[in-house]
Amino acid sequence: MQVLNTKNELISLISGLKNKGKVIGFVPTMGALHEGHLSLVKESKKNSDVTVVSIFVNPTQFNDPEDLKRYPRTLDKDVELLGTVGCDIVFAPSVVEIYPEPDTRKFDFGYIESVMEGAKRPGHFNGVGQVVSRLFDIVRPDKAFFGMKDFQQIAIIRSMVKQLKYTVEIIPCPIIREESGLARSSRNTLLDEEHKKNAPHIYATLKKAASLVSEKNVEEMKKWIADEINSNPFLETEYVEIVDEETLQITKDWNEPGKKVACVAVYAGKIRLIDNIVF
Ligand code: PAF
Repeated sequence: MQVLNTKNELISLISGLKNKGKVIGFVPTMGALHEGHLSLVKESKKNSDVTVVSIFVNPTQFNDPEDLKRYPRTLDKDVELLGTVGCDIVFAPSVVEIYPEPDTRKFDFGYIESVMEGAKRPGHFNGVGQVVSRLFDIVRPDKAFFGMKDFQQIAIIRSMVKQLKYTVEIIPCPIIREESGLARSSRNTLLDEEHKKNAPHIYATLKKAASLVSEKNVEEMKKWIADEINSNPFLETEYVEIVDEETLQITKDWNEPGKKVACVAVYAGKIRLIDNIVF
């Protein structure tokens, strides 16, 4: 496994691999790797010849400076973990390497950035678009793998790919959960013991909700989910939304065509967690 820090090294390595006809799989991450990331690497290995993982805590996607400051950084451990799953290339650039000058591009993601994470975290998806497009320009992947915990992010990346005419295939991968049901997230390491013990109530609620679809209309269901999560004194719901899996349009009635996804953002103390379930 090669660990590279500069884009020029990576660009020349990738160009040699592409000349040999290798299919490049790419897993962009912000580090603090867990089983969820490793499952993306395994998926990439199944579907490509060479797997590149980037580790870069992207400042432009943090709308809260405190959140950026406390985001976990565990590079040595990450590199070690990636070695255990057969990653081929790790790209761990500095901020100046990715942004030699500030990125002033403003993406227009239209409706999909006006709801849920887009509404609650202004500028977040613009930053995601900026960094992922920069990384795509360097890695030039044939396939890129993203976890479905960040369900809305996948729609944003698809839109960015279309706007900038990349040919990369975006491959969504299932949410990986801890034994307790808590969705794996780098932020879980920031939870104190009490919040860690109570955070699994989020997914337990979503699962129970899935079994109640025939008993409640959409509005009743959203209220029930929020009330049920908030009944745990360690958790506070920021939003509950039920949206169409493809368009992210807000569901008004279960009879609308297409699969429905219930999405939540919940504060466990100071730590903001997101999760979702397909009904
Ligand atoms: O999902 C993430 O970890 C980040 O948003 C990503 C895609 C690596 C961009 O920084």
